[in-house]
Amino acid sequence: PSSKVLQGRHIMITAGPTREPLDPVRYISNHSSGKMGFAIASAAIELGAQVTLIAGPVNLATPCGCKRIDVVSADDMLEACNSVISSTDIFIATAAVADYKAANVADNKIKKTGDELTLTFIKNPDILATMANRKAKPFCVGFAAESQNVEAYARGKLNNKNLDMIAANDITSEGLGFNSDNNALHVIWQNGDVHLPATSKAELAKGLLQLVAQQYNKNQAS
Ligand code: PMT
Repeated sequence: PSSKVLQGRHIMITAGPTREPLDPVRYISNHSSGKMGFAIASAAIELGAQVTLIAGPVNLATPCGCKRIDVVSADDMLEACNSVISSTDIFIATAAVADYKAANVADNKIKKTGDELTLTFIKNPDILATMANRKAKPFCVGFAAESQNVEAYARGKLNNKNLDMIAANDITSEGLGFNSDNNALHVIWQNGDVHLPATSKAELAKGLLQLVAQQYNKNQAS
């Protein structure tokens, strides 16, 4: 049926947080629940896509009909993406990937000693930029969680990471964004933008995928 606008397309989605170990018992992470990415996976399956969902540590059931790969750290997530990317038509990066990881992961539990503790962090690989700068590049959709200058920072990421589309969320709005059931998105691409107002992540996922399908098909035709 014509409603299956993503029929036969392979979509790879990253979701949730990453966890970066400090020692055998501790890690740094963030409040991403994975709900946004899992909602997109469900909606993409509804639209006929073949979906691979690469998930950080989250407590969510796997959407029916998708292939799920569980990962922990950003390095693991990159490895999983590298193993799937060559068969991917569309990549949607909803994961809140930790920007930094510990320079050295302690072999033993870090002991409580002085009044201060200093740890050194080094940059994690940028998974989305890595995928978007491949020679055989899929249609790449990024997310941007911002607390100020939302549109300007989102446009910066669209251009710097070589993306086809970016979905910006303002994380200062109460009840939206990280770890909630609702969100609002400002979706931006090179020649246009659309505001998807606050609603459930399930509804937003449908709206976003209609825009993705439109722009993807336009790119294919040109
Ligand atoms: O999981 P939920 O609780 O449902 O919350 C959803 C969400 C708020 C996490 C989601 O809507 C969202 O905004 N995700 C992106 C979060 C983010 O912090 O993005 P960023 O601005 O750090 O990164 C920009 C883009 O690059 C993102 O698509 C991100 O997945 C990607 N990225 C970032 C860093 C990195 N090392 N690798 C990446 O792939």
